[in-house]
Amino acid sequence: MKAFRSAHAYGMLPDMLRSSRGPPEQAVLSIKTAATLLCATCATQTGSGASELPYYGLSPPVYPSPVGNGTTSARWAQARMHARDMVAQMTVEEKANLTRGWPGACVGNTGEVPRLGIPALCFADGPSGIRGQEFVSAFPAGIHVAATFDRHLMYQYGRALGSEFYGRGINVALGPVAGPLGRVVKGGRNWEGLSSDPYLAGSGMGAITRGIQDAGVIAAPKHWLLNEQETRRRWTPTGHAISANVDDRTLHELYAFPFMDALREGAGAVMCSYQRANHSYACQNSKLLNGVLKTELGFEGFVVSDWDGQTSGVASANAGLDLTMPSAGFWGGKLVEAVQNGSVSEERISDMATRILASWYYLHQDKGYPPPAIYNNTEKHFPVDVQADHARLIEEIGAAGTVLVKNVDNALPLKKPKFLCVYGYDATLKASPWQNRDRYGGGYEDNFGWNTFNGTLVTGGGSGGNSPPYVVSPFHALQERVTRDRGILRWDFYSDNPPPYLNTDACLVFINAYASESFDRASLTDEFSDRLVLNVASWCANTIVVVHSAGIRLVDGWITHPNVTATLFAGLPGQESGHALTSVLYGEVNPTGRLPYTVAKSESDYGHLLSPSASSTSSSSSSLDSNDDIFPETNFTEGLLLDYRYFDHPANNKNNSLAPRFEFGFGLSYTSFAYSNLSATLLPLPPGARTRHGLAEYPDRTDTQVQGGHPALWEVVAVVRCTVINAGPVEGAEIAQLYVDGPGRDRDSPVRLLRGFVRVGPLVPGQRGEAVFELTRRDLSVWDVEAQDWRLRRGAYEVWVGASSRDLRVRGRVTRRVPSKTEAEAIRRDPITNAS
Ligand code: BGC
Repeated sequence: MKAFRSAHAYGMLPDMLRSSRGPPEQAVLSIKTAATLLCATCATQTGSGASELPYYGLSPPVYPSPVGNGTTSARWAQARMHARDMVAQMTVEEKANLTRGWPGACVGNTGEVPRLGIPALCFADGPSGIRGQEFVSAFPAGIHVAATFDRHLMYQYGRALGSEFYGRGINVALGPVAGPLGRVVKGGRNWEGLSSDPYLAGSGMGAITRGIQDAGVIAAPKHWLLNEQETRRRWTPTGHAISANVDDRTLHELYAFPFMDALREGAGAVMCSYQRANHSYACQNSKLLNGVLKTELGFEGFVVSDWDGQTSGVASANAGLDLTMPSAGFWGGKLVEAVQNGSVSEERISDMATRILASWYYLHQDKGYPPPAIYNNTEKHFPVDVQADHARLIEEIGAAGTVLVKNVDNALPLKKPKFLCVYGYDATLKASPWQNRDRYGGGYEDNFGWNTFNGTLVTGGGSGGNSPPYVVSPFHALQERVTRDRGILRWDFYSDNPPPYLNTDACLVFINAYASESFDRASLTDEFSDRLVLNVASWCANTIVVVHSAGIRLVDGWITHPNVTATLFAGLPGQESGHALTSVLYGEVNPTGRLPYTVAKSESDYGHLLSPSASSTSSSSSSLDSNDDIFPETNFTEGLLLDYRYFDHPANNKNNSLAPRFEFGFGLSYTSFAYSNLSATLLPLPPGARTRHGLAEYPDRTDTQVQGGHPALWEVVAVVRCTVINAGPVEGAEIAQLYVDGPGRDRDSPVRLLRGFVRVGPLVPGQRGEAVFELTRRDLSVWDVEAQDWRLRRGAYEVWVGASSRDLRVRGRVTRRVPSKTEAEAIRRDPITNAS
């Protein structure tokens, strides 16, 4: 602990003084910040010592910026070599031109070097489809993809997305998203990302990145790092952005964790975030960029700023930023000047340019990449249609990410109903045109503060939203079904008290919860929608509620009403919304969607994690948060305890007082499953064989660092298996989930962690299948803040497999033994071969 603390104590001042090279008002603020930091340093010296909290406020300096070296693979080595050769022929001005944005057709356009045949690179949003273009698809949002708990679909998603970006000549896709991770329950952008569980989010980040890059496009996982709220996310002339203050262990085990998966899969770019992290702006935070990303995680590609997220010139260059967007920011001619006067080394600017080109070569974009086909939709242009048959995949993911949370007396699936009532503003398309002609979900400029979306919600708002070619609404798809069955329909998309039709078989009520970039949500419910459900349920004995939501939506206003027979969380499904939903409602798809978050009974159950800090409405942020108008900050005092980890922790869940309404990982099926025969094995070293890393406590430090972290972290060290039987009446697949509790758990650690999930089946009634989980060294390790490394602890690892984070069916354990005296001696002589 000591080394880490002292690194903190010395760290910040040089970083901040560098950042005072901004405009005059920033320089003033930076000096004030430096003063505040000195006080924080004083606090460290008088702090009680038990927690790291008094040490917040200092981000250790890590300089110089590591030069990419291509050691990850032969492919990176070759890409790096080509890039280096090319950059060696460039003038400083040409290098600087590659590191900045220019106005152009794309959301971001780099400078070009025509003399050497280097084109401008085109960057576009976003994570769920090309935003703002015609003839492109609208895919489900990240949170919906996470709800599938299906790696295969996650990959297919990335691949299809990537092929659309490729077809339009976009070099860099701005996604996928794991920042925000979802710390703040009302966070406006949580839906763009996958889940607040880092393992689930990481599985998606890896699979989607691989998919995008297999299609030839550079993925830019974002926003690195700790961009957990929209409130005060950015610098303004009247105050700094919020500082997300986090301890070292939490930074690694929670927030950086899912990015590791994307890096491991070869991500060629990473976007740094707007806000401050431990008081230093993320796009000039040398610990985050030079330290964690480029050293520990061996990043070979380039760091691009979030749009206008650069807050200094020299400081950001030396801290590891490689490209500023969307204009020159603090660079351009100033960067040339800084190189000439020695504030930024020539090696640094060469590495910036080399990193950008290395990713370009890594994806073979130098060989016949399609020219950008990006248009302003107010002009007539040739249609470049890249949709292929992605609608089919979009429908499949739409259905797979739909979560059934209540189903009384088999209300669902529907059995060829003759008469259906369809109610609620979310059932159909809104009658008015899109608020912003390029975005279905609205641009953040015209939807500020919305709680709901007045039309069916298929995506959220802001840069993560998309531009569907069409939207199949639930009403549209239901009408197709009912027409086929020669039934009848009645509807009301307007009122919160629709007219009763007493002969109906079922009443489907559609409500939604909206969220957007640029503001956090005001509430997790809304009165109009809750009233609507209760009014229908007051007379309709078979009320089925469908919730489209950009994040967590509470349902306790009506979920226990006896006439509410079924409820579905239908997420943000993209353009095929209605088709995806009806396939579940009518039972052609037996639901396998699982909640990627915890639905509490009331807002207050989320405690200080409910609301963003530094907002006028934040109720219970930590007492250590500062709502100082100039230097707002938020302390991540909960550490690793987000979502189900928070709800399950004994400190919060005294006498089971904090039972959620629906826990993380929960979701019903039309059948049921039984679990048995769990076996868990810690892999033995092959007899006499010299394995690379075995079960040694730490990865071998003499190894070359590669992108994604030490290779040993990704080695499988344990396997858990169990049997799953379809014990119900119809065919279906189960999402079996593995949770682990490691040895030596302290009071800050979660009770158990998701560390595996697998789709078993489809199985016919009575059929059995096997769930197999492979656990890597990283899955079982903790971040050791003293050793500054991932540590595989000795002792017993309890494992559970079940249907959700609270429905744990079978249990086992593996033990990493304490070695005998002779073994200990053998380990001392040869730690790699003999450790166990
Ligand atoms: C967002 C990014 C986005 C960029 C370009 C920013 O405001 O935070 O996520 O990629 O704009 O549209």
